[in-house]
Amino acid sequence: MEPEAVVTIEKLVHGGEGLARLPDGRVVFVPDTIPGEKVRIRITQKLGDYALARPEEILSPAPVRQEPECPYFGLCGGCQFQHLPYEAQLQEKLKIFKETLARVGKIEEDLVVGIEPSPKVFGYRNRLQFHVHQETGALGFLKRRSHDLVPVKRCLLTTPEVNEVIEKLPTIPAWKRLHPYVKRVNLGLSPVENQVVLLFWTQLKPRREDLYELLAALPVLKAVFYWIRGRAPEGPFPEDAPHKGRRLFAVPGEIAGLGAEKIFLASAGVFVQANWDINLKLIGYVKEKAGTDENTRVLDLHCGIGNFLLPLSINAAEGLGVDTDHRAIADGVDNKNLWGLKQVSLRVSSAIEALIDLFKAAETYPLVVLDPPRGGCKEILRFLPDIAVDRLIYVSCDPPTLARDLRILRENGFEIEEIKAFDMFPQTFHLESATILYRKR
Ligand SMILES: C[S@@+](CC[C@H](N)C(=O)[O-])C[C@H]1O[C@@H](n2cnc3c(N)ncnc32)[C@H](O)[C@@H]1O
Repeated sequence: MEPEAVVTIEKLVHGGEGLARLPDGRVVFVPDTIPGEKVRIRITQKLGDYALARPEEILSPAPVRQEPECPYFGLCGGCQFQHLPYEAQLQEKLKIFKETLARVGKIEEDLVVGIEPSPKVFGYRNRLQFHVHQETGALGFLKRRSHDLVPVKRCLLTTPEVNEVIEKLPTIPAWKRLHPYVKRVNLGLSPVENQVVLLFWTQLKPRREDLYELLAALPVLKAVFYWIRGRAPEGPFPEDAPHKGRRLFAVPGEIAGLGAEKIFLASAGVFVQANWDINLKLIGYVKEKAGTDENTRVLDLHCGIGNFLLPLSINAAEGLGVDTDHRAIADGVDNKNLWGLKQVSLRVSSAIEALIDLFKAAETYPLVVLDPPRGGCKEILRFLPDIAVDRLIYVSCDPPTLARDLRILRENGFEIEEIKAFDMFPQTFHLESATILYRKR
């Protein structure tokens, strides 16, 4: 029998779990808890000098504790904070953020200027990735700390259109024929059209009739794609889907800085910020802090479809974006043409290769943007002082790697002006942020 203990939760940590101490002084992490709560726990794993536990009974619930809205909460690994009201989530996330920055990066708390709330606290996600239940074809997420699947009928984090697909897809006869070969499914909303793009990874080439049966059974689908091998998925189906089956995202004129609304196109499976409403706030903040003018040259080293590059380049002399995803760059080129930005160019390249090329050419940029994947971008930091000569903006979705990288940047001639958190992912521990740096003179 696993041992039980009674502990008091001291604080929440990155990952969303509560930290407490066992009677022998060892640290224990307990999910679904709130600071101050006394909890009867069962130890599930002992790992060196700390342990993992599950809560058996909340003996003294915090006054703010609330009933989670989602029936899968606690089982599904997606959300960690539904037992907290949104205001309390924001406060806890900000505390964890500051603590992570201080512990990993030795970054002073007062550099963090605040956290921008998400305009929507549920129904905000425009894309989700699923595993497929082998017997039923149901879509699902992985259980916490496990590779087991939790099939779901809907997800409260996403939109009604995406939920319609989650619910109906497993009931369609064509899907029953297709799903035994399908490993993964990606559903992406096209917000301008309120339609969904379905992409699935399969081991067997699907019959065209089956794809058309899916489309007929689910009018909310804009297009279907499948990825079997190679550098790009097959599709769109239908072949004449508007915009080659791509998703459409609108940027209001006042944020784009162009007077009129602008559109981003994004191919199935290409990275797009998951919560579009707060992404617009993030773009607005980055634009304000960048303070570009007609002399500015902008370099975006993880530009994707041009999410920051295009708004920043509108009144700039030149914009250069690089990304390793050739499909994102193809979308980015179409987007900059749609936006009418002749001064912008985009290239398929890793950030490090781009920096080495620019270094050899003795090129410098007064504004450089970084927005790396979760692992951060440690490998490029030592080249930055030669290229980024004034402002550096680091957008991050992972506070621990951000803290590590900021520490290195500070040791290499950059100063932090301010850091702002953006709650891109309500109900979860994940947090987006933007750090404004400048080159010490
Ligand atoms: C978090 S996304 C950000 C994309 C874009 N800034 C946006 O807001 O939509 C990270 C991007 O980095 C790209 N990427 C991953 N590794 C890279 C590397 N070594 N060099 C350049 N880009 C990379 C990915 O393809 C992805 O588009």
